[in-house]
Amino acid sequence: MEDRTPLPEHLEPIERAGVDELRALQLDRLRWSLRHAYDNVPHYRRAFEAAAVHPDDCRDLADLARFPFTGKAELRDNYPFGMFAVPRERIVRLHASSGTTGRPTVVGYTTEDLRTWARLMARSIRASGGRPGDRVHVAYGYGLFTGGLGAHYGAEELGCTVIPVSGGMTERQVTLIRDFEPEVIMVTPSYMLAIVDEMERQGIDPAATSLRVGIFGAEPWTEDMRREMERRLDLHAVDIYGLSEVMGPGVANECVETKDGLHLWEDHFYPEIIDPVTGAVLPDGERGELVLTSLTREAMPVVRYRTRDLTRLLPGTARPMRRIEKITGRTDDMMIVRGVNVFPTQIEELILRMPQLSPHFQCVLGRQGRMDTLTVRVERRSGVDTTGAEAAGAHLAELVKNSIGVSVVVEVIAPDGVERSMGKMRRIVDRRDG
Ligand code: DLL
Repeated sequence: MEDRTPLPEHLEPIERAGVDELRALQLDRLRWSLRHAYDNVPHYRRAFEAAAVHPDDCRDLADLARFPFTGKAELRDNYPFGMFAVPRERIVRLHASSGTTGRPTVVGYTTEDLRTWARLMARSIRASGGRPGDRVHVAYGYGLFTGGLGAHYGAEELGCTVIPVSGGMTERQVTLIRDFEPEVIMVTPSYMLAIVDEMERQGIDPAATSLRVGIFGAEPWTEDMRREMERRLDLHAVDIYGLSEVMGPGVANECVETKDGLHLWEDHFYPEIIDPVTGAVLPDGERGELVLTSLTREAMPVVRYRTRDLTRLLPGTARPMRRIEKITGRTDDMMIVRGVNVFPTQIEELILRMPQLSPHFQCVLGRQGRMDTLTVRVERRSGVDTTGAEAAGAHLAELVKNSIGVSVVVEVIAPDGVERSMGKMRRIVDRRDG
């Protein structure tokens, strides 16, 4: 793989700053952000008063823990524009996260917010190994989803040539990669796999394309998936994290030179890890739910937003900002099967150890009497005979039992048996009510 480490002189000064400088900047910005939320968003004023805190009480970064959390419910209750902190005329863009149930959550941006987002996405693409002049194939969806437009403006900001393909029409994705020869692709990891399968179907060797860097996010994926992608595509597979409520993609990103978790861009977002049940703040290094506070956002500041994403905070390495470990899953993705907690990422890791099985899988929850059951539906790799694949399936069930401690049924199905997604893959199918 080509060395894609950015030169130190190409980094922003804050990416080379010391931790003390970063903490001082954060405190200044945090105090501004709390004040901005309190002064301009009725919800925050009420919530702070109910918790008997005032922005002036924040003298130290640790004081943030005294402020109330914000959850998806608060955003929904203030649908559509109640969380905005600036007059409606200053909002120049809206995005929304679909949300499978109920009202979508709406986010707004001022001109300055869009500038910040583009700069942070440019920083993320550079950290991933992208360079000015690279061609960037964007296969994240364009629209209310933040993936496509977020990637688009970031790549332009860095000085790349953007190819705004959006998701879907997989055959055409392959044609455009072959003809336009992009160095960088930005796409969900599950849709990347579908594109790779399509390349193989067309007789194109995925390792021989022009792609050098893949910036994969919007859904959880594992180290084993990274190895699979890097092996099949001969590129750097780098993780990008973000969420609409807090900005969109580019809240945190891995550095290509270390690939050791995602540096959270702490000059714009302040992270905490909490115990998801008690809400207590946990020390760095402990696993829990990621909580984010925006430090510079104008249109829609968020104070202690509960992401529901499970991870832990680790010290900075390639950058002074702390890292989040690759996300295991969301609190709402945790399946509880006979009292054992299971995440789809744990199943993914084990599947990828079996050369006979493909990474296309789904977890189907069912019910037998009063017991929950978990069936793993996984495709055999093309070219593997059914007997070999069945044996691998049986072995997978054993591995799951031994390493996670839960009994599952493994159903090995034909290649293409699992529905492909153009964006985020639906890993859990819940049939417990049917
Ligand atoms: O998925 C933003 C995004 C677009 C991120 C493109 C990266 C690339 P939402 O649709 O609001 O926004 O979904 C946010 O997706 O809370 C996580 O649960 C999940 N997620 C995002 N990135 C990752 C990642 C976009 N790298 C929700 N690893 C978040 C694991 C991720 N989960």
